[in-house]
Amino acid sequence: MEHYFTNNADLPSNFRTIVYKINGSVLEFTSDLGVFSKNKVDYGSDLLIRTFLKSGNSNRTLLDVGCGYGIIGITLSKLANMKSTLIDVNKRAVHLTSMNIKSNGVDAVSFESNIYDKVECTYDVIITNPPIRAGKKVVLDILLKAKEHLNESGELWLVIRKDQGAKSIFETLKTTYEANVVEKSKGFYIIVCKNC
Ligand SMILES: C[S@@+](CC[C@H](N)C(=O)[O-])C[C@H]1O[C@@H](n2cnc3c(N)ncnc32)[C@H](O)[C@@H]1O
Repeated sequence: MEHYFTNNADLPSNFRTIVYKINGSVLEFTSDLGVFSKNKVDYGSDLLIRTFLKSGNSNRTLLDVGCGYGIIGITLSKLANMKSTLIDVNKRAVHLTSMNIKSNGVDAVSFESNIYDKVECTYDVIITNPPIRAGKKVVLDILLKAKEHLNESGELWLVIRKDQGAKSIFETLKTTYEANVVEKSKGFYIIVCKNC
């Protein structure tokens, strides 16, 4: 079975444009077959972006893990002046993200990486809408190994659905970080973990 994180060079392309209206700005993204939420901005990703923008965080370095076509990192570069690095295991997602970085004119880079395999730097913020369908091990590796790539006072931001194990993941996060649920909407939780 094909998943949105499977690399499949034979998959045809059928580009489409996603128009994202947020806080008085309009951003456009190219999307394609074979990537997560290819036709519209995912509700959880939108909630994560809006909650982050409300927090007043800006002008910091950011790593978007599992970036898809780049919606989170690129929007936060554009609207919060974050210096973003966007990574995904899916080659097509990374290619779309590179196109979207260019078309949105933001200060950002994108490269292919399985979890943090190719990540050499540390960041002020790591942000993710994690790939639940990739399994618990991948999700926990993304969340717990973030600590090794966060600056001293850095923060891990994530969105997770209640019915996808938000409560048990929250308990696990508390073993490693100072974790807080900062927003809840329609069964989606936004969790912020401080590096401590
Ligand atoms: C829920 S989607 C979120 C995509 C995008 N950030 C958004 O908000 O629309 C999770 C992403 O994680 C990626 N992913 C899955 N397994 C991964 C892994 N082992 N390492 C890095 N990224 C992975 C998927 O390809 C997918 O793009």
